Amino acid sequence: MSTTTLITNISTLVTNDPDLGEGPLGQVKDAAVVLEGDRVAWVGRAESAPQADTAYDAQHRAAIPGFVDSHSHLVFAGDRTQEFNARMEGRSYSAGGIRTTVKATRAASDEELERNVVRYLREAARQGTTTFETKSGYGLTTHDEARALRIASRHTDEVTFLGAHIVSPDYADDPAAYVELVTGEMLDACAPYARWVDVFCEKGAFDGDQARAILTAGKAKGLTPRMHANQLSYGPGVQLAVELDAASADHCTHLTQEDVDALAHGNTVATLLPGAEFSTRAEWPDARRLLDAGATVALSTDCNPGSSFTSSMPFCIALAVRDMGMTPDEALWAATAGGARALRRTDVGRLSPGARADLALLDAPSHVHLAYRPGVPLVGEVWQRGERVR
Ligand code: NIG
Ligand code: FE
Repeated sequence: MSTTTLITNISTLVTNDPDLGEGPLGQVKDAAVVLEGDRVAWVGRAESAPQADTAYDAQHRAAIPGFVDSHSHLVFAGDRTQEFNARMEGRSYSAGGIRTTVKATRAASDEELERNVVRYLREAARQGTTTFETKSGYGLTTHDEARALRIASRHTDEVTFLGAHIVSPDYADDPAAYVELVTGEMLDACAPYARWVDVFCEKGAFDGDQARAILTAGKAKGLTPRMHANQLSYGPGVQLAVELDAASADHCTHLTQEDVDALAHGNTVATLLPGAEFSTRAEWPDARRLLDAGATVALSTDCNPGSSFTSSMPFCIALAVRDMGMTPDEALWAATAGGARALRRTDVGRLSPGARADLALLDAPSHVHLAYRPGVPLVGEVWQRGERVR
């Protein structure tokens, strides 16, 4: 039998299971959790906690499920400080900056790319992220996309093939030939390392027909679609994502009422990425409108060197609460259970018996402080698969 650990004296525990506590977050006050191996074995009031091999005093801090960051782009080299500076002087964001990172990524060694992934995933873990998805998309050749996914797959099971990030500069004169490459040879080389297929469906990247062809080809190879949709402008992305049963439509910044209705009635999560609107000075996605319509909303970092160079889920929560109409409870749910839904996972994003033993202890009495005290490093301790990692 695996060893058991009792974490007790928790001020407020978020389980994300309404059957286990109060409200939609299933909150338990004066709580305890028992971990057994890499799983949660028991949660409830501290006074009725069972015995365990070791006991750990949470010192009256809050406990939450580890964050599930369901959208990041961590396999890259270089940075785009200059582009950020130019934006802060008034220039607007364009997807064309992706080419700068493609050049740097192609020139980097495998070791350099892997060092970067490890660096950013450690940074994220320090801020409470215990599950993360990451993508290719800065290689745009068969060789460079496959190596990005190979590197990513050494660090997470949630790997996404984004050969269709932009049309490769090598195919600037023949985008149709690039789509053929992505749906053919490149997909064949990349599919073994990936669980998901993604497309940046946007003016200047891929249109609805191209996105449909790429996601359909990915599906035929056993990958499940997700999509960068409606980030910079209105377009067909969101409705196409729902139609193709994508796990998630990501960004959702420019939505018509039809888009909102499609998300509310479909099986596709709306993943909002406020770090991108922060760093591109764009208008905020309207989380309130989506929630009121009945859509499932996730929050994620979109960590990448161009549009959103943050690995901090607490920062995204603070933005979502301040500027996107979410309550602190809704934002916490979206950053944990919502991310799990966007990855079609049931073992993470909750703290209830059987779930993976992934949790964060906050140097605060409740999760509300993540938005109430923005910018303060409140993630005190992190447990991943039952091991304390911070
Ligand atoms: O999610 N929108 C497309 N891809 C990224 C940006 C990538 C970049 O600018 O390097 C995003 O925002
Ligand atoms: Fe992205």
